Amino acid sequence: VVPDGYRLLLSNHQIAARLEEIADDLRAKLGEREVTFVGVLDGALFVLTDLIRAYEQDARVDFLRVSSYRGGMKSGDLHLLSDLTWDVAGHDVVLVDDILDTGKTLVYCRDALLKRGAASVTPVVLLTKERQQEYEIENPVIGFRIPDKFVIGYGLDHEGKFRHLPDIYIMDAQDQ
Ligand code: IMP
Ligand code: MG
Repeated sequence: VVPDGYRLLLSNHQIAARLEEIADDLRAKLGEREVTFVGVLDGALFVLTDLIRAYEQDARVDFLRVSSYRGGMKSGDLHLLSDLTWDVAGHDVVLVDDILDTGKTLVYCRDALLKRGAASVTPVVLLTKERQQEYEIENPVIGFRIPDKFVIGYGLDHEGKFRHLPDIYIMDAQDQ
């Protein structure tokens, strides 16, 4: 059930169509190279699964689990909750997350991958909020630019809830 104060922002259909385009661009860019997709848990859950199927070529899949929004809407200090399984040294990595907000999470994960010897890191986010990022990440691939409001669904949660919703909903109330 969609909570009060939220309205539909992006349908699962729109998301799927955009991920097809992004997968085409990634194939064009990375060609026949060996690619590892690294999803940032938990939010990247559905973006990652839908993106690798749209990518259609064989690729390794791995995960980083990072804590940032501790249950609520405020960003805290980051730490790694679980690390990669594969060795990414010399590999081209596609780093996948649900949303780029301040940029803190993506910068942290990109640096972790580079430290482990990744040959390249291509950051892909389904969403980015229309505001100045505090942590700069060069040339991320962006699915959709959205207003600077809280969103839920398609992997995005609020206090651990609403991740399962197939579509994305945005907070519409004045005071969030
Ligand atoms: P950043 O580190 O500020 O860029 O925040 C990115 C992380 O915070 C993402 O991985 C999301 O999981 C989470 N996040 C940011 N904004 C939202 C939101 O509107 N809804 C749900 N999660 C969010
Ligand atoms: Mg997340």
